[in-house]
Amino acid sequence: MKKKPRAIDLFCGAGGLTEGLRQAGYKVVGAVEIDALACSAYKLNHKAVKLWKEDITRLSGVAMMEALKLKPGELDLLAACPPCQGFSTMRTKNGSRGNRDAQNNLIFDVLRLARSIKPKAVMLENVPGLAQSARYVKFRRALKRLGYLITSDILNTADFAVPQRRRRLVLLASKLGEPKFAPEVTKYRTVRQFIETLTPPERSRDPLHNYPVERSEKIEALIKKIPHDGGSRMALGKKQQLLCHQRLDGFWDVYGRMAWDSPSPTITGGCINPSKGRFLHPEANRAITLREAALLQTFPKGYKFPLDKGRYSAALLIGNALPPEFIKRHALALRAINSSPVK
Ligand SMILES: C[S@@+](CC[C@H](N)C(=O)[O-])C[C@H]1O[C@@H](n2cnc3c(N)ncnc32)[C@H](O)[C@@H]1O
Repeated sequence: MKKKPRAIDLFCGAGGLTEGLRQAGYKVVGAVEIDALACSAYKLNHKAVKLWKEDITRLSGVAMMEALKLKPGELDLLAACPPCQGFSTMRTKNGSRGNRDAQNNLIFDVLRLARSIKPKAVMLENVPGLAQSARYVKFRRALKRLGYLITSDILNTADFAVPQRRRRLVLLASKLGEPKFAPEVTKYRTVRQFIETLTPPERSRDPLHNYPVERSEKIEALIKKIPHDGGSRMALGKKQQLLCHQRLDGFWDVYGRMAWDSPSPTITGGCINPSKGRFLHPEANRAITLREAALLQTFPKGYKFPLDKGRYSAALLIGNALPPEFIKRHALALRAINSSPVK
């Protein structure tokens, strides 16, 4: 039997990228993650992977290869999704400049590990803002010098069978041929296809779906008034807005409902909080649940997320993840060139 191609997932979070690679037939042999809660989510779902629970800046490629019994050049894919706060357009709450700079430099740890492990291919994913940064130009140039052919673009996950609009910068690099992205779908998948038939939370035994939510009477009344299936606060007119919203003219998505027959908006770390975006269920008078958010991110139905630190921490893991379906499709495209002979 042909051996599965092997991959390492850097900044693995709760494992969205790993799940996509696994579905594309890769064997993820190693992963790195600094955050304890993300590590426990990862372990719950990907027990067999060697997980380094540590700061990537302290980890050497030699140590990783030794632990995984790999020689330079043997790894098929080094995949990485470094934290992206510094390049995000939503950057106001993200700490001091020094902290942001340190995070932004983590892209060079991907390069450092690529230099030492010499994988056949590299996959990098990030927020679109990274494309404008000098660090990204330097990163690409260095990869080219290492002998990789590169394809990169800003893609929308809805074009790749994810029922969610989410714009991401994706870079594929290969030493075996020019990488190609997966083909785009001709029809979007929708919120309805992914969450309509789910048992309602109050009758569900899934802890990610059935949990108590407390809301003030005022908010409860506001939610009930938002028209079903894609409605916004705009439909209520100015007088009926909460006082704090009357001044927030730019934030019409806040307390909006998702539409059944479209992809959802970007699932962020705030996705179970209706005051953070268009996160109300299309019909029910509540925000989407953690399970619904995970399904819109295309995680499998039984994927586990720990609730030890509360539901907002779990929502952050879900919102930070790469949709597995998106990664699966591009990883399959990459596999196709990696297994074809070099011209
Ligand atoms: C965008 S998230 C990754 C999402 C993940 N690829 C997925 O699909 O679920 C970035 C991750 O990098 C981790 N991280 C940040 N700084 C790190 C460091 N210095 N070393 C290792 N991991 C780090 C964060 O804790 C976070 O989980």
